[in-house]
Amino acid sequence: MTTNQLKIKPLFSEEEIRERVTALAKQISGDMQDPNNLTAICVLNGAFIFAADLIRAINPGGFAVDFIRASSYLGEHSTGTVCVSCDLKQDIRGRDILLIEDILDTGHTLSALIRHFQDCGARTVKTAVLLDKPSRRVADITADYRCFEIPDDFVVGYGLDYNEQFRGLPYIGIVQTKTEQKNGVID
Ligand code: XMP
Ligand code: MG
Repeated sequence: MTTNQLKIKPLFSEEEIRERVTALAKQISGDMQDPNNLTAICVLNGAFIFAADLIRAINPGGFAVDFIRASSYLGEHSTGTVCVSCDLKQDIRGRDILLIEDILDTGHTLSALIRHFQDCGARTVKTAVLLDKPSRRVADITADYRCFEIPDDFVVGYGLDYNEQFRGLPYIGIVQTKTEQKNGVID
């Protein structure tokens, strides 16, 4: 499917996202026990814009930040196999981790990353997700913090992509295929 056959239906505006991210950051700041022992870890690529905004809104901001690259997705379908292709640069032994991810979908990615950080010796692992698709859950996992719950639609924008397209959209939208446009599945 080529990009020019796709239409994006807006779901959350820039303003709505800003409000929710600010509220989430406030909640995280309030819950934070020991900011000096915190490492925020952004899951690349999809969470990079969410993480940038969330990290800047968490107060106090004197914590460590690292990145990890993990994927369980090809096109629109989760493979269930999670691959860490670029690991952390920092030692997280004894650290409290805030894992920042774009979408909690089947839960394979987040579960695998939590296990990975525990194996690396993290003291605690909490998760913050931009979007939650609970209807698709396979793994037994709930996010500690989430901005929005969404139905089972494929979404893009604000860091999320469809085959590397649309990451730079300032809003989040649902991908509508040509067939869906014709059938009026999403108007
Ligand atoms: P699992 O199934 O492991 O998947 O929870 C989480 C990862 O799947 C990707 N994902 C999406 N990416 N639009 C996207 O751009 C979507 O609607 C979508 N649903 C899942 C995402 O990368 C997430 O890290
Ligand atoms: Mg991802």
